[in-house]
Amino acid sequence: MISLPVIMSILITQVAFVVTSTVLVPELVAAEGYPIESHYVTTTDGYILNIHRIPHGKTNKTLEKVAYLQHGILQSSSNFVLYGPGKSLAYILADEGYDVWMGNSRGNFYSRNHTTLDPDTNSTFWQFSWNEVGSLDLPATIDYVLEQTGNTSIYYVGHSQGTTVFYVMGATRPEYNDKIKVQVSLAPTVFLNHMISPVLRILAFFEEPLYRLSELFGVNELLPADRFLANSIQELCSGDVGTILCENILFVLFGISPFQMNITELPLILKTVPAGCSTKEAIHFAQLVNSGKFCQYDLGNATNIETYGESTPPDYDLSNITTPSYIIHSKNDWVAVTKDVDRLAAALGNLKGKYLVDDDLFNHSDFIFGINAPALVYSKIVSLLSQH
Ligand SMILES: *[C@@H]1O[C@H](CO)[C@@H](O)[C@H](O)[C@H]1NC(C)=O
Ligand SMILES: *[C@@H]1O[C@H](CO)[C@@H](O)[C@H](O)[C@H]1NC(C)=O
Ligand SMILES: *[C@@H]1O[C@H](CO)[C@@H](O)[C@H](O)[C@H]1NC(C)=O
Ligand SMILES: *[C@@H]1O[C@H](CO)[C@@H](O)[C@H](O)[C@H]1NC(C)=O
Ligand SMILES: *[C@@H]1O[C@H](CO)[C@@H](O)[C@H](O)[C@H]1NC(C)=O
Ligand SMILES: *[C@@H]1O[C@H](CO)[C@@H](O)[C@H](O)[C@H]1NC(C)=O
Ligand SMILES: *[C@@H]1O[C@H](CO)[C@@H](O)[C@H](O)[C@H]1NC(C)=O
Repeated sequence: MISLPVIMSILITQVAFVVTSTVLVPELVAAEGYPIESHYVTTTDGYILNIHRIPHGKTNKTLEKVAYLQHGILQSSSNFVLYGPGKSLAYILADEGYDVWMGNSRGNFYSRNHTTLDPDTNSTFWQFSWNEVGSLDLPATIDYVLEQTGNTSIYYVGHSQGTTVFYVMGATRPEYNDKIKVQVSLAPTVFLNHMISPVLRILAFFEEPLYRLSELFGVNELLPADRFLANSIQELCSGDVGTILCENILFVLFGISPFQMNITELPLILKTVPAGCSTKEAIHFAQLVNSGKFCQYDLGNATNIETYGESTPPDYDLSNITTPSYIIHSKNDWVAVTKDVDRLAAALGNLKGKYLVDDDLFNHSDFIFGINAPALVYSKIVSLLSQH
């Protein structure tokens, strides 16, 4: 479908376009007449995260509960508001009476910010994987949200990497288990060795060379929105042939059912995805594909011994996760395949339920961008959360 050089250039292209046409979450939400707030959270290692909040629905202001939504790799808080009220998860929860907070992990479009490091000039900024998102970003953000709302626990929903980081937090910072009342994982990416997605498999195959390449060129940021896409891909997306082509390039990464894509929304999606991440986040996933383990970043034998005290990176202990948890997954998910999801379910300390989406073609990205996500997935989330 697309050649290896194209894939490689997608993965390592680093072109410094000025961000011009990105649709911003505060503007999107305000245009719908919903209240929206921007907040800044500083982590213990100096990253400044710009998170978003819809404090209540348009009319319903009788709040009791706080919901927190966490996006996947290369994505942002825009995932939860893109399609508007009744269609995107943040609005649905706000209208149900939740105070809705949406995270943005370090290095994405909203969180390219640090107290001392400049992401544009100092590559030290990009030396992190989703291990740091789970063990540092999430705890800082959750503490901030609890402090702002005066609550002692929140309702957590994550998609894809948004689930990975939850499990990293639960395993490495067990004191946070009680700060999450209940957790819903959409298409969880924890064990990945049965993953089908060809692009991620190719990335896994090139794990080492890609890492060296990125060091060589000092390329430590992957796929920032607009810089990489704006001029090239958006041009491809005009005209029928172009639309199909650009749809493939974008979604071949993660997978989408042909019946779930609303072509009319594609230009809007392209203005927010991909929102950027670090090369190490992608490589850490590639390591899981290769090893079949859910473990810390593999630094190579010698450095592993220095850092972890053993030659292989230690596993995250999933049995230590005591937060009541639910999993919603789908049969045709190219990334979170059923075999791997079942293994996660068996390993969890406090699994309350596991549900298969009632659509055999539902794919990894459909949980966010699928036309039927509200009916097939979001209504289920609302009912699961309301039981706690
Ligand atoms: C408003 O939110 C409360 C609390 O979640 C809920 O019980 C109620 O049904 C909601 N009312 C409307 C009109 O949506
Ligand atoms: C960085 O964070 C500060 C808040 O600490 C904010 O005022 C500033 O606008 C942010 N800069 C960028 C580029 O996001
Ligand atoms: C990047 O930041 C680190 C840590 O503050 C510092 O030691 C290093 O000199 C900086 N590098 C550049 C190129 O500014
Ligand atoms: C929890 O947060 C909600 C929403 O912000 C708020 O209305 C409620 O008063 C808070 N509960 C407590 C006990 O502070
Ligand atoms: C799932 O997504 C992948 C990647 O976009 C696609 O190639 C595949 O055809 C999708 N599966 C179905 C059944 O649509
Ligand atoms: C597709 O998106 C357009 C533009 O937002 C919207 O008007 C239309 O209802 C959507 N179609 C479906 C089937 O959701
Ligand atoms: C996980 O649980 C085991 C057994 O209860 C315990 O020995 C270990 O210290 C826990 N790990 C963490 C990170 O708390």
